[in-house]
Amino acid sequence: MGDRSPFETDMLTLTRYVMEKGRQAKGTGELTQLLNSMLTAIKAISSAVRKAGLAHLYGIAGSVNVTGDEVKKLDVLSNSLVINMLQSSYSTCVLVSEENKDALITAQEKRTSEDEPSEKDALQPGRNIVAAGYALYGSATLVALSTGQGVDLFMLDPALGEFVLVEKDIKIKNKGKIYSLNEGYAKYFDAATTEYVQKKKFPEDGSAPYGARYVGSMVADVHRTLVYGGIFLYPANQKNPKGKLRLLYECNPVAYIIEQAGGMATTGTQPVLDVKPEAIHQRVPLILGSPDDVQEYLTCVQKNQAGR
Ligand code: F6P
Repeated sequence: MGDRSPFETDMLTLTRYVMEKGRQAKGTGELTQLLNSMLTAIKAISSAVRKAGLAHLYGIAGSVNVTGDEVKKLDVLSNSLVINMLQSSYSTCVLVSEENKDALITAQEKRTSEDEPSEKDALQPGRNIVAAGYALYGSATLVALSTGQGVDLFMLDPALGEFVLVEKDIKIKNKGKIYSLNEGYAKYFDAATTEYVQKKKFPEDGSAPYGARYVGSMVADVHRTLVYGGIFLYPANQKNPKGKLRLLYECNPVAYIIEQAGGMATTGTQPVLDVKPEAIHQRVPLILGSPDDVQEYLTCVQKNQAGR
């Protein structure tokens, strides 16, 4: 973004990109409408994040959500903004969020079966996804988006109020140098995770050990993994036998992005995108990143299963 001329007249904004992709695909315009509404919500959240200190938006809201996380004021605000914008895009049918116990039914006329729309419509494997992305709020606001032809990165230009393309078709490295998981839970790790982490710290082939990084915020950890390579793990452990991260709205979107960038995302037993969901807030173990790194983890899983 730094070397973009302030007088550039042909910049690829995300709004323009979404419209162009829609036209190429000869779509109905619904996905364009949906993504544009999502972008409005992201811009509003970005503005709230920036004003959070002054507007007393930091801190906890005083409740826990349906899966037990402490809810922050910004979580509540972001959830309402996204729901409001998506509802008024008239392009959604069923919405699922960690802040809402039940699925929200936003339209009666869209459906995946002959039945009335219900949360069952959301219980589809990630392989059915046609577009996914995430937003990262920090010193800059970034959107990673895939509509099935690779992953593109956009940065919010605050002066324009538009997201501008900064990296097209980003690909993950085959192998990285970073491992990322909450090592505080080492006591509860299964044998495969313990062995894998040990190998990263004390490589048997005499190579340099991996660096450890863990933000503790999945999108930030996944984004670093996408850009720098390596592996991110939230595996099952003795305390969380199904892992912690939620399949529908945490694991599936990032698994889609990582696969589209040439990486792998697994539960340890199957690709995340192949899991058939049984409940909207279902959790699964998540291990994703550079293909060689994820493959090495899977080798540890298989070895430990065989040894049992
Ligand atoms: O699921 C919410 C979340 O904050 C994720 O964004 C993050 O990866 C994870 O929980 C961190 O969990 P823990 O504190 O157990 O490492």
